Amino acid sequence: MKKKLVFATNNRNKLIEVQAMLPDYELLCLEDIGCTEEIPETADTLEGNALLKATYVKDRFGFDCFADDTGLEVTSLNNEPGVYSARYAGEGKDSNANMDKLLTNLSSESDRSARFRTVIALISNGKTHYFEGIVNGEILHSKQGNDGFGYDPIFQPEGFNVSFAEMTLQEKNKISHRARAVNALINYLNK
Ligand code: IMP
Repeated sequence: MKKKLVFATNNRNKLIEVQAMLPDYELLCLEDIGCTEEIPETADTLEGNALLKATYVKDRFGFDCFADDTGLEVTSLNNEPGVYSARYAGEGKDSNANMDKLLTNLSSESDRSARFRTVIALISNGKTHYFEGIVNGEILHSKQGNDGFGYDPIFQPEGFNVSFAEMTLQEKNKISHRARAVNALINYLNK
């Protein structure tokens, strides 16, 4: 029988994508285990929030689990918005308002370098492991492109002259922070 492992997400598309790379495991999402409550993300680091989510599932539902957390870290803003990326402009989690606030706060800065960083915390066989994925780039002066989500229209990855929102999902997934973190996790689990 395959080992059951929970991916602490409500996004079934993400689950299917990762399941395809983990043939020896049966991946379950939060809905599959009956976890319908919103898991608190109250830590002040990406590592802390990823671990909070994985620990919540392990403690209440008993499954080994992994959870991810992502932030956009802007060098000249002391790595803000970082762990607060989703709520940068308020609890509404409004992507346009978040981007507008970031563009305003960067308007007088010459260094526009930034990176997306994803951290995955895995609780497996009583131990905690962390995996990280980073994509470096810069913040554009205005929004470009319609695809993607979050800060994609204002983030241009290093080596490209288009924003994440001007790439296809396949192009973005080849180089993205999340893909890199997931690949590190998969390499570990498939060892
Ligand atoms: P989460 O941890 O995946 O929920 O990401 C937290 C926040 O970071 C999101 O609400 C977005 O604002 C931002 N974010 C995460 N991943 C991406 C991405 O791939 N592109 C643009 N924004 C992202």
